[in-house]
Amino acid sequence: MSTTPATTTPGPSVASAPSPAPASASPAESALVRAARGQSVSHTPVWFMRQAGRSLPEYRAVREGTAMLEACRTPDLVAEITLQPVRRHGVDAAIFFSDIVVPLDAVGVDLDIVPGVGPVVAQPIRTRADLDRLPALTPDAVPYITEAVRRLVAELGPTPLIGFAGAPFTLASYLVEGGPSRTHEKTKALMVGDPSLWSDLCARLAQISGAFLRVQVEAGASAVQLFDSWVGALSRADYAAYVQQHSAAALAAVADLDVPRIHFGVGTGELLDLMGAAGAEVVGVDYRVSVTDAVRRLGGSYAVQGNLDPALLFAPWAPLEGAVRRIVAEGRAAPGHIFNLGHGVPPATDPEVLTRVVALVHEVSAR
Ligand code: CP3
Repeated sequence: MSTTPATTTPGPSVASAPSPAPASASPAESALVRAARGQSVSHTPVWFMRQAGRSLPEYRAVREGTAMLEACRTPDLVAEITLQPVRRHGVDAAIFFSDIVVPLDAVGVDLDIVPGVGPVVAQPIRTRADLDRLPALTPDAVPYITEAVRRLVAELGPTPLIGFAGAPFTLASYLVEGGPSRTHEKTKALMVGDPSLWSDLCARLAQISGAFLRVQVEAGASAVQLFDSWVGALSRADYAAYVQQHSAAALAAVADLDVPRIHFGVGTGELLDLMGAAGAEVVGVDYRVSVTDAVRRLGGSYAVQGNLDPALLFAPWAPLEGAVRRIVAEGRAAPGHIFNLGHGVPPATDPEVLTRVVALVHEVSAR
C-alpha cells in the first residue's frame, strides 16, 4: 500500500513537490530510451506532449512580447522554455521547444503562427509552380537549432532530449490549405487529383523533416518524435498509397544515428501498424484506443507511448488517478511503454495536476 502524498491527499489542488525521475548514468541509459528500445526499466518513463507551453505561468512570463517563431529562433529562450517542465514536473524527458513549421520558415515559406489559430501560410502550395518555390533544407539554414540543442544537452545531463518534426501529411495539410483545417478538403483533393504533384510535395517535405530531425540528433538529441497529428483523417488504403512511404523517408533520415523514433498521430487507431512499419521503434497512441488494444494491433513488435485523455486533467483526482493506474498497468504488456497524454497538454491545465500525475506514474510503476 502506498504512503506517499500523491495518492493519499484528497485532490489535485493540494501542492505536490516534483518527484524527479530516478537518475540514470546517461541519456542513452535513461528509462525513456530503454523503454523505447523494449529494454527493462526501473520505472515507466513519462513526459507530456506540449509540456512546455501556456499551461505554465513561467512560460507565459518569458514569452511576453515575443512572437512564437521569433522565440523558436532564439536559443536562450528555447533552452529556458524546454527546461521549465523538466524542473517543475520531474518528467523523464525534455521535448525540444520549437514547432513543426519552423523548418518551413527556415527554407523561406512565408508563414506565421497566429495565437489561438495555429500556422497560417501566406501563399498556399497547390500547383507545380508553387512546389518549385519550396527548397530543400540544409543544416546551415537552422544554426539556432543546433545551438539550442547543444546548450540543452549540456544542461540536461542524464535527462534525454526528444527532437521532433512534423510528418509530410500534416505539413502538407498546412501548406495546401493555407492554415489549420478540420476536413483537409484541398489536401485530399490534391492527393487524389494530382498524385504526381502530391508525391513530389511529400517527398520534398520528407527531406525537410528528415533534415530537421538529423540536425537535432547530430547536436545531441537522444530520441525523436515524428508528429503526424492530422493523418487520422485518412483511411488505411489512402495512408498506405499516398503517405506511408514519405513518413518512412523522413524517419529513415536518422536511421543510422542509433536513436529511437516515436511516430504519433491523433485518431490513428486504424493506422497504428502502418505507422510502426514506416520505421518507428515506438508508436504513439491517442486516447481513443486503449493501450491493450494498441499492443494487440501492433502485434507486440513496437513499444507504445500514451495515452491519458487530456480532458481527464480537468476531472476530480479519483477518476484521474484510476485512469493513470489503468494505463500504467496496461503498458506492462507492451514490449516497452512510455506514459504520455493522448494529445497535447491543454493550455488551461493546472500544472499542479501534471506534477501529481508524474509522481503517480513513477510511484505505481517502480520495479
Ligand atoms: O512541449 C512541447 O510539446 C514542445 C513544443 C511544440 C510546440 N508545437 C510548441 C507550440 C511541439 C512539439 C509542437 C508541434 C506542433 N505544432 C504540432 C504537432 C503536435 C500536435 O499538437 O499535434 C502541430 C499540429 C503544430 C502546429 C501548431 N503550432 C498549432 C496547432 C499551434 C497552436 C495554436 C494556438 O495558439 O492554439 C501552434 C503554436 C504553438 N506551438 C504553441 C506552442 C507552445 C502555442 C503558441 C504560443 O504559446 O504562443
